[in-house]
Amino acid sequence: MTDFKTRPSARARKQRNFTKMEDHVMQSETAFYSKAEHYWKEVPPTVDGMLGGYGSISNTDINGSKKFLQKFLGEGKGKTGTGFALDCGAGIGRITKRLLLPLFRTVDLVDVTQDFLDQARMYLGEEGKRVENYFCCGLQDFNPQPECYDVIWIQWVIGHLTDDHLVEFLRRCRSGLRPNGLIVVKDNVAYEGVIPDVVDSSVCRDLNLLRSIVSRAGLNIIYEEQQQNFPEEIYQVHTLALR
Ligand SMILES: C[S@@+](CC[C@H](N)C(=O)[O-])C[C@H]1O[C@@H](n2cnc3c(N)ncnc32)[C@H](O)[C@@H]1O
Repeated sequence: MTDFKTRPSARARKQRNFTKMEDHVMQSETAFYSKAEHYWKEVPPTVDGMLGGYGSISNTDINGSKKFLQKFLGEGKGKTGTGFALDCGAGIGRITKRLLLPLFRTVDLVDVTQDFLDQARMYLGEEGKRVENYFCCGLQDFNPQPECYDVIWIQWVIGHLTDDHLVEFLRRCRSGLRPNGLIVVKDNVAYEGVIPDVVDSSVCRDLNLLRSIVSRAGLNIIYEEQQQNFPEEIYQVHTLALR
């Protein structure tokens, strides 16, 4: 298996950068999605598998996410409720187990890889009884129920969607929010342009492109933060709160 999205060297960046993903990915949209599905089918259903061998950063990641999310949750005007969360590209439920189930009454998971969702049922243990649905579906096809979720968490998966599909998916997520609900996108960002990963069939976009996708989806960035204390060699990771 490849490592967890280590940053390409400056020279490689020059050779491989594109200004939008359609330039190189879209010879075949179907192949872009099916290659990713095949890739994930071969990955072990473990925390290390979810993080491409960087399982050791999981604690730092979850602690950073908890601090981020807690700014918005609670009682009172404008606060986001703690009833129902959706974990998108959930894998085995690493985030559901440590972040979402401790903060929300009920959680749904959606992922394209059935084996990961099967593993999640065991991995989540007793607390997993508060998971209502395990949806096996690509996010490009997934339609959250309208006005259903307080928080929709989307981490380390947006690079698997084309720009247009990501815009459409974020739009559907917006409709899936309860009043004062929040969409959180946490993902790798490139310094400039779009960097393809031919191994897992994904792309890494720069912040400008991500921001323009968010705006095309009719969403506003209400808060944005860079995850601290990750290893030097991996991409920068940013967390965006949207509504
Ligand atoms: C890097 S893992 C991250 C898992 C989880 N978000 C985490 O941080 O632990 C990427 C996940 O995205 C899923 N995935 C890949 N393409 C997808 C798609 N088009 N729709 C939904 N899930 C997808 C994979 O099956 C895998 O579980």
